[in-house]
Amino acid sequence: MDFMIESMAQYRSEYEKSVKDPEGFWAGIAEKYQWQQKWDKVLEWDFEKPDVKWFINGKLNITENCLDRHLKQRGNKLALIWEPNDPKERFVRYTYRELHEQVCKYANVLKRNGAQKGDRIAIYMPMVPELTVAVLACARIGAIHSVVFAGFSAGALADRINDASAKLVLTSDGLYRGTKEIPVKRVVDEALKECTSVERVIVTERTQWAVNMEEGRDVWLHDELTEVSADCPAEPMDAEDMLFILYTSGSTGKPKGVVHTCGGYMVYAGYSFKNVFQYRESDVYWCTADVGWITGHTYIIYGPLLNGATTMMFEGVPTYPSPGRFWQVCDKHGVTQFYTAPTAIRALMAAGDDHVLSYSLDSLKVLGSVGEPINEEAWSWYHINVGKEKSPIVDTWWQTETGGIMISGIGSASPMKPAHAGYPLPGIQPVLLDADGNEITEHDVEGYLCIKYPWPSILRTTYGDHERCRVVYFSHYKGYYFTGDGAKRDKDGMYRIIGRVDDVINVSGHRFGTAEIEDAINTNKKVAESAVVGYPHEIKGQAIYAYIILKDEPDNEDNLRSEIINSVVEHIGKIAKPEIIQFVPGLPKTRSGKIMRRILRKIAEGDTSNLGDTSTLLDPEVVEVITERAKQLKG
Ligand code: WT7
Repeated sequence: MDFMIESMAQYRSEYEKSVKDPEGFWAGIAEKYQWQQKWDKVLEWDFEKPDVKWFINGKLNITENCLDRHLKQRGNKLALIWEPNDPKERFVRYTYRELHEQVCKYANVLKRNGAQKGDRIAIYMPMVPELTVAVLACARIGAIHSVVFAGFSAGALADRINDASAKLVLTSDGLYRGTKEIPVKRVVDEALKECTSVERVIVTERTQWAVNMEEGRDVWLHDELTEVSADCPAEPMDAEDMLFILYTSGSTGKPKGVVHTCGGYMVYAGYSFKNVFQYRESDVYWCTADVGWITGHTYIIYGPLLNGATTMMFEGVPTYPSPGRFWQVCDKHGVTQFYTAPTAIRALMAAGDDHVLSYSLDSLKVLGSVGEPINEEAWSWYHINVGKEKSPIVDTWWQTETGGIMISGIGSASPMKPAHAGYPLPGIQPVLLDADGNEITEHDVEGYLCIKYPWPSILRTTYGDHERCRVVYFSHYKGYYFTGDGAKRDKDGMYRIIGRVDDVINVSGHRFGTAEIEDAINTNKKVAESAVVGYPHEIKGQAIYAYIILKDEPDNEDNLRSEIINSVVEHIGKIAKPEIIQFVPGLPKTRSGKIMRRILRKIAEGDTSNLGDTSTLLDPEVVEVITERAKQLKG
């Protein structure tokens, strides 16, 4: 699709067009895709309800755009390269023709097992090729996929299955990740004890471990595949039909199901991928995220395939079998674009330069970063040791809710500044607001980051609870989409993201709500009350600090700590483990009973010289007690 911006001058003129005439601009982009029926109207919107519709009455199927459309010219081009956890195991490659065939077959397996357009299908799988095939197979038949990261616990999986009333679950026998082996099917079995909507479980063989197969419910994918043809017409979808649900944490309550729809998401995924990564026909693109997160959805699967790209999928972790793995894989497959997270860069940086300097990395052209602000030290290390000071780094700011990259460099076409995401992509209109909700129009300022005009892949709702979507994103500042982030705009108009301004903690690029973790901690019967905050962590960006009031004196503090950690692992997953647990006699509360997290954050950060105004506290003494003990705990 020829919509690549290749210079700053071109960027400026495209950006201007996109703001002056957004509908004309996006219609021009959308025309490059394959529609079964053209739209009647480009956009209708109202941020107060909220109600946003793009490409109204347009009909399409995203898999025709990802697969069928390429068969003629790129049938023998590689669509997918899969690199296994163990470097000694054989890698797998699918051409566009092969991937198309696999998807059609899997789609027929879904149909054979009762799946229909509009059904929700939960996918809980390792990073194997069948995961990508499964996602696309759902889209092929118009079923709504809900991918759940395979590191979440049975409880978290059950919550997500139930919230969406999923009819099918797609999973595997087991999973390899670094040195870890996880009995995935056992987790599913455990989760399904609490789910009544699930009629079928389709199991991919990965580890060949013996697993329980429940008669009448569970089937093996390889058995099913022998029963189906490779012919599966793509279901016609309305542009505003749901494509997928992806659960993400917010500052309150349980994770919410962010909903993306077929037409707008497709248009934006393809457009942003091509431009940010400056993808060219013979490139080999690698995004190291897991498909369980939005980054994997948009920039492992949909964005690249929409552009006929060769996309890589990696089963393992950056440090297995050694901290040189990423670079070994880049050299092995001739990777041209490499997209990863700051936490991975920091971990590899800490492991020493030798691991990277022994690889040539001369195929690399563009490097990407996503998930959290990248600190200057990590940025420089990435730039010098991986990019050899010649590859641009695109620092891509976006969210599950935005569907695609919003503020970012575009390959080498735009200027870069360490730790700055940069300029908005065409069609994206960010603003900074002050505490009263007024737009700050000058440069060299700081404010709440909001977006004032819809873009095609904005979330449409939160599944089953539209009011929640309105309250969380559209009620703080009337007429704006509120991101939850604070940002600076420098003298050149470039954006620098500061971080969340709500009760969301970003651990290694993964989002957790403080309330969600507190709820998990509070399931322990010995806990009376808890308050959780994030604090800076060298590798993870932020880590979790839990302040806990116990009902009684504990017999053994360390045992109780492990017990509490287990509650979190059970309810959410290992990725949400608190780093530090401090038992406290009380919490700093206002007279109206509100916990003053600001103070707890400062204590966790070790910055207690200026705790700000504590005069409204019910019991100011408790702050001193907590501070003293915190110093000992953090050593
Ligand atoms: C939050 C969204 C979007 C894919 C990964 C995370 C933070 C994301 C950046 C960046 C600074 C970033 C923000 C955002 N974030 N990218 N380049 N610079 N912060 O998706 O789980 O929806 O989290 O991640 O705080 O709001 P997510």
